[in-house]
Amino acid sequence: MPIKRKATIRPVLNHLQPQGISDISEYGAQFDDVIPMWFGESDLVTPEPARRALIESLESGATFYQAQNGHVALRNAIAAYDSRLHAKPVQADRITVTASGMTALHVALQTIVDAGDNVVLVTPIWPNAPAAVQIMGAEARRVSLINQIDGRWRLDLDALFDACDDRTRAIFVNSPNNPTGWMCSREEQQAILDFARTKGIWVIADEVYHRIVYDRETAPSFLDLAEPEDPVLAINSFSKSWAMTGWRLGWLTAPPSIFETLGLMVQYNNSNSPEFIQAAGIAAIQDCEPFVEKFRNYCTTGRDILRDILGPVNRIQIAEPEAAFYAFFKVDGEPDSMALAKRLVREARVGVAPGMSFGDESEGWLRLCFAQDPKLLRTGLERIADALR
Ligand SMILES: Cc1ncc(COP(=O)(O)O)c(C=O)c1O
Repeated sequence: MPIKRKATIRPVLNHLQPQGISDISEYGAQFDDVIPMWFGESDLVTPEPARRALIESLESGATFYQAQNGHVALRNAIAAYDSRLHAKPVQADRITVTASGMTALHVALQTIVDAGDNVVLVTPIWPNAPAAVQIMGAEARRVSLINQIDGRWRLDLDALFDACDDRTRAIFVNSPNNPTGWMCSREEQQAILDFARTKGIWVIADEVYHRIVYDRETAPSFLDLAEPEDPVLAINSFSKSWAMTGWRLGWLTAPPSIFETLGLMVQYNNSNSPEFIQAAGIAAIQDCEPFVEKFRNYCTTGRDILRDILGPVNRIQIAEPEAAFYAFFKVDGEPDSMALAKRLVREARVGVAPGMSFGDESEGWLRLCFAQDPKLLRTGLERIADALR
């Protein structure tokens, strides 16, 4: 008799945590009338010029394989966009198109991280980032932002640098930050870039919320500071600025010297993004700037409603977010965020994300996305306020 051996999955995957945001939305699916604010997306549909560009592209027969780094027309459009928004010009040989911001992160990590390495992440953070590091067999090292008395968040640069060692391959900074709304300042970015330059490590700058800011046109970006060959991998996405979460289109801005390697990484993951989706991306960049403005106003209205309704609730500790479209708040006497999120679903019929999804440091917090229809948002927030008063 041959010996029987059980086929197994990679041990490292046994340590992946369930994605708490999906867990709570699945829990909520059994109830009617839940107002969903748990996901990182608004209720606006993608602007019309992008939708039309996809239809026209498909109807013209754009159904074939494409260049692995992305269609040259989209790469040129992104380079022009990056150059317009940032202090330094960006050439198209730094742009690689990916099938989402999430894929851009995988491609970046596959390019620079080996098993046994570590990546130091500024947290709280969107759970997919540390999970992607773990999938590489690397260690996700967390350095938490400090929550100050006024509810705002502050980065401890010394703690960040102290967390790096010989096996550190990258510092991951998501700014504007999901879930806290924190923004890394120009001075902090300069210090991180200088540190990365001297240590020979990468900065992975997740800047998918860079247009969703309230007191300026764009958030401070590592691309304002980086020379082309600096060790910066900037992740961006069509999901947030143009309400294109379902389309799965993003990009990496990287040094030209690794352009070909990044192309190979795309090739060996999904070969390329569909041409008709990329056509929509070009239209988003070139024709949908009015939407970006409108969306920012939509978020501003949401932020005002949030301040009016949750601000006065004594048990809720909340600060106005500087950027992105999330309220991240703590509720006195509620240490278990998943239990509280479930209670809000059951008793108030509102869907919020439990803080534990964003790391142990966020247990006891809740996140909600306020980029929603003002009337519905008002109703949802009033239900939360009533339940937590
Ligand atoms: C911080 C951050 N980065 C990247 C992404 C990925 O966006 P997508 O994969 O939809 O492009 C998200 C999505 O929620 C996010 O919050």
